[in-house]
Amino acid sequence: MPNIAVLTSGGDSPGMNAAVMSVARNAAYYGLSLIGIKRGYNGLLGRSKNPEDDYVRMHLDTVLDIADLPGTWLRTARCREFLDPEVRERAVKTLHNLDVNGLVIIGGDGSFNGAMRLCELGVPCIGIPGTIDNDLAYTEMTLGYDTAVNVCVDAVRAIRATSRSHDRPHVVEVMGRDCGDIALATAEATGSEIVVVPEVKWKVDDVAAQLNRHIAQGNTRATVVVAEGCWRSMAPFDVYKFLLPYGKEVYQGEPMTANRFASVLKRKCGMIEARSTVIGYTQRGCSPTARDSMFAFEAGAMAVQLLKQGISNQVIGVKNGRTFHMPIDKALAEKKHFNKKLFRLINSL
Ligand code: F6P
Repeated sequence: MPNIAVLTSGGDSPGMNAAVMSVARNAAYYGLSLIGIKRGYNGLLGRSKNPEDDYVRMHLDTVLDIADLPGTWLRTARCREFLDPEVRERAVKTLHNLDVNGLVIIGGDGSFNGAMRLCELGVPCIGIPGTIDNDLAYTEMTLGYDTAVNVCVDAVRAIRATSRSHDRPHVVEVMGRDCGDIALATAEATGSEIVVVPEVKWKVDDVAAQLNRHIAQGNTRATVVVAEGCWRSMAPFDVYKFLLPYGKEVYQGEPMTANRFASVLKRKCGMIEARSTVIGYTQRGCSPTARDSMFAFEAGAMAVQLLKQGISNQVIGVKNGRTFHMPIDKALAEKKHFNKKLFRLINSL
């Protein structure tokens, strides 16, 4: 039976296991045998003492055990060495030894770059966008994004209830290193008053003035949703110098964080209290929503069908609500659109 392989790479995202399951079901349907590569591209580098630590033959039994699990059963990793051409040659050798003639890569842009390089070396590859950040321009959604947003929405709703009970504003930090999509969607869905993202430069004083306006109108639960990467788009602000007179323990040169930002806003807005929550990895390590699971199901099926038809060097995505595929290089060349209109709408109400 011809072999295909599947790996998950980069930050884990809800739905990765569901996508692997879909690849497995479709491989079985087409009479292909499936090898699961462990820890992303690392599993192709022959570094483990036991081969079973690097890859595993996936049978129905294995797949049934992982289908509904959060996280990624195959494990994942970021493999910087893969930038080195010699390392990639080694990976190709491993794939030849395993008789693999098609590889499905579930990951983000870095993983897709690796896939493109493997295609150049003659390994047919198909990419499925697995990242909560939704930072890939060519697709309307990435696997895990919907789940991450839902986790954040549940958290912010709960936070807004307790904020209102105590009459105190709250800073909530969500993930998104370079992309504010999770923050924007969370703020929109929860009716949060302020959103701060990496794509738009901002000043602490402007956010404080904005928050003050809400407080003056009696909105004591006003919520500031910030994307993790927004501290880099902030105009320079010396937290130490600002908080020192209040006896707040901050050391010189320390960067802004959600917690420090809440302290600063509290003082600038004359509030008795302000709090912060960093939602963090709960956004990644949970079971996928139905929407993500459905995308995983369709993407896994499309990946296997493409390989079966001899089509490769493609990534799968969603356009106008439908699953589609396009060449990896063209997909990676697309520029992400930032929804300025929505950003302004949330911040201006
Ligand atoms: O890419 C997904 C993501 O969760 C980002 O939002 C975040 O910046 C990063 O991964 C965190 O990565 P790590 O798992 O290495 O801490």
